[in-house]
Amino acid sequence: MDDQQRLIEEAKIILEQNWQDGFTIPRAELYPFQWNWDSGFVALGWSHFKVENALRELNSLFSGQWLNGMIPHIVFHSENETTYFPNHDFWKTDQCQSAPDSPKTSGISQPPVHAFILERIYVKHQDNPEILDAIQELFPKILRAHRWWYQHRDPLNEGLVYIYHPWESGRDNSPMWDEALGNIVFDRDQLPTYERKDTAHTEADMRPTKRDYDVYVYLLEVGKKYQYEGPEIFHVSPYVIQDTLINAILIKSNESLIRIGKLLGYSMSDLEKWNRKSKVSFEEKLWNEELGVYTCYNLRTNRQIACREIGAFTALFAGIPSIDRAQKLMTLLHSWQEKGFSLCPSFDPGHGSFDSKRYWRGPIWPQMNWLINQGLLRYGFDDLATAVKQDLIRLVKQMGFYEYFEANLITQKGLDRGYGGSHFSWTASTIIDLMKSEK
Ligand code: GLC
Repeated sequence: MDDQQRLIEEAKIILEQNWQDGFTIPRAELYPFQWNWDSGFVALGWSHFKVENALRELNSLFSGQWLNGMIPHIVFHSENETTYFPNHDFWKTDQCQSAPDSPKTSGISQPPVHAFILERIYVKHQDNPEILDAIQELFPKILRAHRWWYQHRDPLNEGLVYIYHPWESGRDNSPMWDEALGNIVFDRDQLPTYERKDTAHTEADMRPTKRDYDVYVYLLEVGKKYQYEGPEIFHVSPYVIQDTLINAILIKSNESLIRIGKLLGYSMSDLEKWNRKSKVSFEEKLWNEELGVYTCYNLRTNRQIACREIGAFTALFAGIPSIDRAQKLMTLLHSWQEKGFSLCPSFDPGHGSFDSKRYWRGPIWPQMNWLINQGLLRYGFDDLATAVKQDLIRLVKQMGFYEYFEANLITQKGLDRGYGGSHFSWTASTIIDLMKSEK
């Protein structure tokens, strides 16, 4: 067995170990339930060697879909697991009309990756008759989820959806949120008491701070007060953001959903209309000429969040930028590489808030490399796409299947492991997919 094959075999073992008879946990103890966008990447990994697990994975996630269409960011398939905070009893979604009785879920969402993942699975297995059945079953559920984003999270009717919790962005403690979260004033004594569990499973300096967690709980309580869906949230939440990554992923997934819908014989004109509008608004509202990147938009202050950050590059995957803007994004990424960083740091390494160890403040995340590799390929930037892929493969070979990795090349030399959780599911899946693809 050569090195390549060995790495793929190791990755498969990780997925098997994290498989819970119907879905895959990201990592035992640290994340012992099913996560929304993790499940998409994990299904992609499974589709290379056990496609039935890929379909079960997606179906399990959608068993937590709310009546209003939302796919929650966590589905708590087990009510006996106690190693994670906030657990289902803290979310109290049993008091929400839209939430399913079982399984229990959280009350917010995450990047909607499932349509483009489903399309990938279809393209790979189109000769398998079970795939078409699965698609027929999943298509209306994903469509409802996309409708939910537009109906519940786009009150300004711009084609750009908002989030009201950093957990929804998938990039919890990015410095991008510092200003918005730092401005939130609250009385700690008014927060419900809670006990963090994450720092019992991994080092505290690789995780969000205590203040970050207080704010996460504060924003969770804002959602809870309005059953996580009331239109009031848009007006009262101190954190209301149009995120690059969420919107780019939604646009990319819309494209896939339109193609799947047409394949099944449906008219997709509604979604085609939304998608056109979304792309135009993304270009007009989120591009920052001075920084040469897309930025998130803070709807509370009515300003762009002027930071260079990883979410910007996912616009390539969605085919949003003009060639000129794509070139600028490519050049920026290239400049980070020239400064001595492996690709892709999750935050601008030249910014004072960059922290190459602390979660979303700088480290490299496998699923982000996957998204950016695909985006660069879409625009024909093959060399940089290869660098993004090879950097991740090298890090995993050197340090193991970790949750995230040191970005600074010099610091990497003294390390023999990655950061956060080990034996991580989406690291395993993205490695399988990247190593099995030609470019
Ligand atoms: C962390 C990440 C989030 C991911 C989850 C499970 O909260 O920030 O993006 O979905 O872990 O892996």
